Amino acid sequence: MAEVLILSGKTVSQHVYHSLQPRIDSLTRSGVIPGLAVVLVGDNPASQIYVNSKAKRFDKLGLFSETFKLPENIPENDILSLINDLNNDNRFHGILVQMPLPEHLNESTVIRTINPEKDVDGFHPENMGLLASGIPRFIPCTPKGIMRILEYYQIDPSGKHVVVIGRSNIVGRPVSILMSLKQEFSNATTTICHSGTSDISYFTRQADILIAAMGVPEFVKAHQVKKGVVIIDVGINRVEDDSKKGYTLVGDVDFINVAEKASAITPVPGGVGVMTIAMLVENTVEAAEHLVSGGVVAGDL
Ligand code: GUN
Repeated sequence: MAEVLILSGKTVSQHVYHSLQPRIDSLTRSGVIPGLAVVLVGDNPASQIYVNSKAKRFDKLGLFSETFKLPENIPENDILSLINDLNNDNRFHGILVQMPLPEHLNESTVIRTINPEKDVDGFHPENMGLLASGIPRFIPCTPKGIMRILEYYQIDPSGKHVVVIGRSNIVGRPVSILMSLKQEFSNATTTICHSGTSDISYFTRQADILIAAMGVPEFVKAHQVKKGVVIIDVGINRVEDDSKKGYTLVGDVDFINVAEKASAITPVPGGVGVMTIAMLVENTVEAAEHLVSGGVVAGDL
């Protein structure tokens, strides 16, 4: 049986950082250090880990980032007023509000307050609209990272059936839009499955490329996929056990068994998650370049 190809986000992200270096150097020479403001509300442990990894990576690359930690019960007006300040603060080329937010905050209102030109997550309706129109400005980081992994390993989605499980604004919906764009390394036929889909296996078994992004540990089983499928596992779930750490990280795919049928698969950790951070760096560099050139980026047409 042919060996499954492990699609290493670690390898691809190193490649991304390497190719970003000249762009970072050039910005630094013109006196601009790409800067990111991260807003973290409450003390969700997973969000804290993500935010810390982002800050560490920015540090390592000599970029600027500052995390604004807000209490769980912050009134909505206070977070909106912080975002307005960040919109007007020239040290920050990018603003990221870590999701999910506590229930009492309206995600859509918060996202719509971010200046779309600093929205390096690509979540603002203006940026989502540009993406859906095929003229993206900032592409959401996880979907962009998935496309970059496929490109690096020369797995072309064109003409393939891509099945996405999960319809979130962060991953499922934007990745399905990207996959179906009429351009190189896209051009796929796409299906989105979600909690309202009556027979998910019917669709997953047809997938040439299956993207699992619904946040349920080891949801996708071997009998639900066809032989030779390419698996992109977006899930990062903590499953408690009696290991030293007290938990193990697993994806949304039953890795060991599905890998036996797949032609290629992303691992967890070391797959899509590390690419999300690499694409955040790339989007922040892009935002800083835009400011320096005062020029046009895709989408500003
Ligand atoms: N929560 C999970 N993924 C993301 C992401 O890519 N951006 C933000 N802001 N929050 C997230």
